[in-house]
Amino acid sequence: MEFKKKILCIGAGYVGGPTMAMIAYKCPHYKVTVVDINPTRITQWNSNDLPIYEPGLDEVVKAARGRNLFFSTDVENGIRESDIIFVSVNTPTKMFGAGAGMASDLQYWEKTARKILNCADSPKIIVEKSTLPVKTALAMERILTSNGNSNQFEVLSNPEFLAEGTAIKDLEHPDRVLIGSRETESGLKAREELAEMYANWVSRERIITSNIWSSELSKLVANAFLAQRISSINSISALCEKTEADISEVARAVGMDSRIGNRFLNASVGFGGSCFRKDILNLVYLCRHYGLNEVADYWESVITINEYQKERFVINMLNAMFNTLAGKKICLFGFAFKANTGDTRESPAIFITKKLLAEKAEVIITDPKALSNARVDLEGVSGKVSYSEDPHEATTGCDAIAVLTEWDIYQNLDFKKIYQSMAKPAFIFVGRNILDHKKLFEIGFNVYPIGKPGLTHF
Ligand code: UDX
Ligand code: UDX
Repeated sequence: MEFKKKILCIGAGYVGGPTMAMIAYKCPHYKVTVVDINPTRITQWNSNDLPIYEPGLDEVVKAARGRNLFFSTDVENGIRESDIIFVSVNTPTKMFGAGAGMASDLQYWEKTARKILNCADSPKIIVEKSTLPVKTALAMERILTSNGNSNQFEVLSNPEFLAEGTAIKDLEHPDRVLIGSRETESGLKAREELAEMYANWVSRERIITSNIWSSELSKLVANAFLAQRISSINSISALCEKTEADISEVARAVGMDSRIGNRFLNASVGFGGSCFRKDILNLVYLCRHYGLNEVADYWESVITINEYQKERFVINMLNAMFNTLAGKKICLFGFAFKANTGDTRESPAIFITKKLLAEKAEVIITDPKALSNARVDLEGVSGKVSYSEDPHEATTGCDAIAVLTEWDIYQNLDFKKIYQSMAKPAFIFVGRNILDHKKLFEIGFNVYPIGKPGLTHF
């Protein structure tokens, strides 16, 4: 079959994999190839056991794979063959040198740009999919014009706004698709070419365009705003615990103001995930770089509150359990950073486990999808940790449960049976307000929710 366009994506991760699967699924007349330097990842993408868990992903991949969706390790050939190249390699927080702990580590990005330059033998549109500091496109353009390669490269910014756990839904029905370009004739033409691809399934009103720097910055700012809402509600959860106000009631009342809206107001044990912390640090670093210290401090406080919230959770456990956790068995319900994903990057559970182990508690972890990642995260950490997929088995003989991920299954457990199998007094610390606290209390648990008065038998 003759394809209308050939698309390549470099980086088959949480972003590149699902995004390309959706493009291939919706655009059968485009050939979509996803490449990655990690051969294991590619083998998994070509198998029935995909490297990431995402509701609905299996079906989309199965429908398109082998038809117009291909996974490969041949980066060079992929570059030569394609018209449009998405770059979706990881851009972790830099851990060395200038900007360590704040700035983005762009080494994979730069290597990818150089590889494109060396392999390309025809004009290409290069699309930034990874979240990047503002002005990265400029660096990309400079590299691409550096060695006299006469082919024209047009760099676009097209940030991805999908959230894990709902990636397929977000990709299929995005709030908006944002495409930033240079406002030159060739830039505008490339912008339209990409818009045309999305128009196969997204209505034109939702495909918005901007200059390239606005596009890069919008992605950082969108994540910063989302995280800011969580830190705002979490900061108030601490106040609720002191004043007998109830955070769910406050969030409902505040969120019904149509100017504020009700989403992202769930108090929690803190936000995790690969993006929020990294992107805010990036924003803070950029502001400091430009001498905007007040702006930097403002956004940095979003992270400070998140750290405080995680810390506070463990301190509350310690206080409630008579100021000692040594030798006590604590079962964590959930290790993923949110429900419906196996991803544990920046999960509050990692921090909490380490703190509990430092208190010499024994930690038993249960999670329906994240245990293999949890094992990797906790490799080499000293202390007693064990894993079980079955929450009933995991809680047997435990002194306390800490609910860290809002998996639906935790709402339908037989808590009576769980209570009976636990040591007494039995504690439950609810880091996600998803359970019926009153019922748990009536069963016999001492219940410590986030942002609500505790229900205890003492
Ligand atoms: C990544 C970025 O972290 C994020 O900022 C951006 O918004 C989207 O891309 P994610 O897809 O979650 O997010 O990252 P990850 O799952 O780590 O996937 C990146 C993939 O790129 C990995 O499979 C890695 O092997 C691959 N890679 C990395 C390359 O193929 N080439 C490289 O040079 C570097
Ligand atoms: C986020 C953005 O939502 C997405 O647009 C962007 O592309 C990538 O970063 P993601 O990190 O996958 O997506 O998940 P998200 O649903 O935003 O949750 C992030 C964290 O915030 C999770 O730990 C979640 O549990 C927490 N959260 C979310 C809360 O604690 N309370 C809320 O009300 C919402």
